[in-house]
Amino acid sequence: MSDTAKSRAAALPHLRRGGLAKGDPIPLPLTMAAIFHAPGDATGFDQYGRFSNPTWDAVEQMLAHLEDAPCVAFPSGMAAISAVFFGLLKAGDRILLPSDGYHTTRALADRFLKSFGVAYDVRPTSSFLEGGFDGYRLAFVETPANPSLDICDIAAVAEAVHRAGAVLVVDNTTMTPFGQRPLDLGADIVIAADTKAPNGHSDVLFGHVASRDADIISRVTDWRETSGAIPGPFEAWLVHRGLETLDVRFDRMCTSAEMIARQLKNHRAISGLRFPGLESDPSHNLARAQMERFGFLISFVLASEDKAEDFINNCALMQAATSFGGVHTSAERRSKRGDAVPPGFVRLSVGCEPVEELWQAIEASLDAIGG
Ligand SMILES: Cc1ncc(COP(=O)(O)O)c(C=O)c1O
Repeated sequence: MSDTAKSRAAALPHLRRGGLAKGDPIPLPLTMAAIFHAPGDATGFDQYGRFSNPTWDAVEQMLAHLEDAPCVAFPSGMAAISAVFFGLLKAGDRILLPSDGYHTTRALADRFLKSFGVAYDVRPTSSFLEGGFDGYRLAFVETPANPSLDICDIAAVAEAVHRAGAVLVVDNTTMTPFGQRPLDLGADIVIAADTKAPNGHSDVLFGHVASRDADIISRVTDWRETSGAIPGPFEAWLVHRGLETLDVRFDRMCTSAEMIARQLKNHRAISGLRFPGLESDPSHNLARAQMERFGFLISFVLASEDKAEDFINNCALMQAATSFGGVHTSAERRSKRGDAVPPGFVRLSVGCEPVEELWQAIEASLDAIGG
């Protein structure tokens, strides 16, 4: 971890300290309120739950501290992506998306943006730079992509996208601000599903948009207030609590993932192993250059759909579940979600269990399915 990441992590649980009066609770109070006391001119105060809420403010302050940029909170990662698209795009625009990233982002463009006159193209993450960006209003990358775990060079893409007069959005969900810093690498906007590692306990959906461009922040804030895509105060409170331990959990998960990926490499049942931290991974050199950690996601292929299901369902320390980034190790066979991967393709999200015990459980389940 770099020195700046360490000081960012150290200050995170103390952000509210300066605003505390004698007798105030140290943990964040939960403010469940649709209306606020607002006599006369209430400008500058909370007035109505669709405009603002003190619990959102606290979670946004934490996210802004982590991103080193103003942040706007949303009720899910997809709500954050929608805010960027619907807040910034207009009929006649053309956008570029990853062909191997989260499928719902493409579904949003296909099922909704298209009918509002916004066209889209797709390109693989590993060759995202090829073909240039002329004619695009916005390019959207996900790196490492879910589930391919391919990566692209954010700084190089940002430079080329800006040369073409477009805006670069990075979905940083798989990395969190502790693992990768797209705004520092030149991206205009970061979006993330805080549903994953930032909340970390798999009990809430949440998302945010971060940008150092005041106009972008103003447009997505206006979209949130006008469309009503607002986070609930209790969800914000849970994410605030989750963020307090993100550094510890993320560190454990990334360290364990490196160890487990090295063990998986030698297992006869595995092919097509992808983990950016492995020297043999096609993305390794770029990952070393642009990521602060290698993440907690690993993907690989087992011989068949049945073997992959047996591996996941019979591993004592693994939850069969979609999503990732929770304290529990979980895995999913991604072809069942429609991703263009082989039937035996498994995306593994390494959790916070002690790593020796976790590896023993994974190895036992792999041994049981045979080579
Ligand atoms: C990379 C990525 N971005 C965005 C999302 C959407 O997040 P949410 O499910 O919170 O809407 C997901 C969900 O899995 C994801 O994997």
